Amino acid sequence: MRRLVPLALVGLCACQVFDPMMWQQKYKPYRGTTFFPDGVSMLAPPPGTVPSSGAIEPALATGIGPDGKLLPVAPVALSRDLVELGRRKFDQTCAICHGLTGDGDSMVAKNMALRPPPSIHLKRSFPDGYFYQVVTNGFGVMPSYAAELSVEERWAVVAYVRALQLSQNARIDQLPAEQRSKVQEEPR
Ligand code: HEC
Repeated sequence: MRRLVPLALVGLCACQVFDPMMWQQKYKPYRGTTFFPDGVSMLAPPPGTVPSSGAIEPALATGIGPDGKLLPVAPVALSRDLVELGRRKFDQTCAICHGLTGDGDSMVAKNMALRPPPSIHLKRSFPDGYFYQVVTNGFGVMPSYAAELSVEERWAVVAYVRALQLSQNARIDQLPAEQRSKVQEEPR
């Protein structure tokens, strides 16, 4: 067994050395080239390219409707699972800057000299599409989170942002009766 291990290792290395894929001519990321007129080897997909998984409806992907306006309501079915997914993604991706309740109370906000992350409750009258496109495109010094969050996850985050906004701005008579008595019983 002991002899077999080095043999297997030599075998593995040999595969690498003689593998024609290793040595074939190719462009490495960020290397320049004289082959293409713009000198860039990493070609951008032609305009209008759709993902191989199928085209996504423009309104769903952008948060902007056919009339050019931000979608007032998210174009996805609202469910408890969606909001739970949104909570997980918000806690992982957004809370570090905007705080767990979205009120802008975070270590990053305290230490950020240039525009700190604001409370996401301030613009609660804005349409769902607004929050979706901020996450998708970024906003001022905040980067886009399109690479980290899929389209579905971004809408889930929007659903959770709505839940957070409601949690900080709800009237007691908006709660179901049994929840109402529970809240009223809890000490402040
Ligand atoms: C690295 C810190 C950081 C992270 C992470 C972050 N943001 Fe932001 N966000 C900011 C900052 C800073 C601004 C203000 C930018 C400016 O004014 O230039 C901002 C602005 C916003 C705004 C616009 C607020 C307004 O007043 O119009 C929204 C909405 C928002 N973020 C939501 C989110 C959501 C949702 C996530 C998670 C997907 C997220 N942010 C992740 C830092 C962050």
